[in-house]
Amino acid sequence: MSSNSSVSFNAKRLEGKVALITGGASGVGECTAKLFVQHGAKVVIADIQDDLGTSICEQLGGHETISYVHCDVTSDSDVRDAVDLAVSKYGKLDIMFNNAGVGRLETSILESSNENFKRVMDINVYGGFLGAKHAARVMIPAKKGCILFTASTMSVMGGFADHSYVASKHAVVGLAKNLCVEMGRYGIRVNCVSPNAVATPMLTKETGLGKEALESMLSEAGNLEGEVLEVQDVAAAALYLASDESKYVTGVNLMVDGGFSITNPSLSMTIKSRMS
Ligand SMILES: NC(=O)c1ccc[n+]([C@@H]2O[C@H](COP(=O)([O-])OP(=O)(O)OC[C@H]3O[C@@H](n4cnc5c(N)ncnc54)[C@H](O)[C@@H]3O)[C@@H](O)[C@H]2O)c1
Repeated sequence: MSSNSSVSFNAKRLEGKVALITGGASGVGECTAKLFVQHGAKVVIADIQDDLGTSICEQLGGHETISYVHCDVTSDSDVRDAVDLAVSKYGKLDIMFNNAGVGRLETSILESSNENFKRVMDINVYGGFLGAKHAARVMIPAKKGCILFTASTMSVMGGFADHSYVASKHAVVGLAKNLCVEMGRYGIRVNCVSPNAVATPMLTKETGLGKEALESMLSEAGNLEGEVLEVQDVAAAALYLASDESKYVTGVNLMVDGGFSITNPSLSMTIKSRMS
């Protein structure tokens, strides 16, 4: 790397940037908010869990650096106000992280409720659409910016989660790809980060398992020996995509899954079991 590269080994990789993170009060979003602040960004957390969001801001030193706004991502006016708050409070919006999401474990199509399908699509897809739309409103005139989505390994495979969830995450990637083409004209990058299952409140609640039990199970089922996926790993990928280190990276769905989505161990397991 040349010594005058603007992206060379900056300890504070988001210095001077302003980020809005939906679903920032818990799990992946919370960890990313903390990491972004550590790297010099001003952050707005937009969520519906007001107590959690407020307490994270207090822990991190308050309004100069990080703010909380109540924002239901399915509400156009809430998302508009959250984007406008980032601009009025910190002067601009560089990074829009559409991370809020809900999901359930695998359910038969016959038992799937219509209301749940609509709710998951509303939060995971329509919420991301609104986030992108309002971010674009302020990023296009600035002719720069980064729009990021949390998708999932379920954006490229099926079978481990509810139909609504898998459909929604495939849709998020489609939305990001299409946005990447239009936003490229304005110098705005659009990417997805796609974790495999990770022990956040979403998954501990859904499985009824504690963090340790869940991590042990996920590590055993994983492809990458000796490691377990943690929220910090997802936040680190988001940091890369949000920083200038990825200044020519757009339209990517970055898998953070230890290779899980490209392997199917069932054939080798069947062969092994038949031969033993
Ligand atoms: N945990 C996993 O295994 C996993 C794997 C792949 C992708 N993801 C994705 O990661 C993202 C973050 O999930 P997480 O695992 O950190 O779960 P989480 O439940 O810890 O965090 C999700 C956050 O989104 C917020 N949220 C939900 N509905 C909202 C709404 N209508 N408006 C605003 N905020 C809302 C919640 O209040 C919560 O704070 C989601 O998009 C999820 O689909 C999670």
